[in-house]
Amino acid sequence: MTPENQPPTVALEDRMRDAAKLYSPSAARNREPVRAVLAERLRDNARVLEIGSGTGEHGEACCAARPDIAWQFTEIDPESLASCAARAAEMDGLLPPLRLDAGSPGWVDGIEPVDALVCLNVIHIAPWPVAEGLASGAARLVNPGGFVFLYGPFLDGERTAPSNLAFDASLRQRNPAWGVRPIGTVTDLFTKNGLALDERIEVPANNLALIFRRAA
Ligand SMILES: C[S@@+](CC[C@H](N)C(=O)[O-])C[C@H]1O[C@@H](n2cnc3c(N)ncnc32)[C@H](O)[C@@H]1O
Repeated sequence: MTPENQPPTVALEDRMRDAAKLYSPSAARNREPVRAVLAERLRDNARVLEIGSGTGEHGEACCAARPDIAWQFTEIDPESLASCAARAAEMDGLLPPLRLDAGSPGWVDGIEPVDALVCLNVIHIAPWPVAEGLASGAARLVNPGGFVFLYGPFLDGERTAPSNLAFDASLRQRNPAWGVRPIGTVTDLFTKNGLALDERIEVPANNLALIFRRAA
């Protein structure tokens, strides 16, 4: 594995590379809590759609823990798409990535209903319409009883960690359309789209795992 020569265009960190496969330091840190939350909540033989799969490491870890599930990678970034494709070629359960912009109208067209829609560390590093597209897509795609799983930093009024306030400021400086999202605003968005906040799980590094569930 060698460090990438060029700074990444989609990740705020130096990703490592082994042929097409990319490795993300933040995915390595978050992989275990993500796997733990998902592995015990997915129903048998669940179909999972991941938005903004990045390197593909989360899908790989989840499918290793739950070989019964089918995990559909999606991405907008060509290098991340190639990384996900390389991982999908090596493990049953991982489906070759779809190229998809979750902020574009009609991104759900042609996608089969799913038991879980997973989006990890994306909505703060993307314009708000991506979160809106995710929620409206969830309204169409998530099966009754299924859920949306969001993972990452959130603003939570006076409970917000100082590190997340600083992160929010640095994101907005980099791109005014980015920013750590208030948990109440995100909850309202998913509620309007028929998914209620079902679980709020504290995970390391002041991140939250949020489960928005569609009624059975
Ligand atoms: C910080 S990375 C997180 C990657 C991965 N989910 C993880 O947690 O390791 C954000 C990812 O979101 C993807 N992304 C950004 N905007 C997107 C959009 N509009 N539609 C789909 N993916 C998007 C980027 O290409 C990038 O791979």
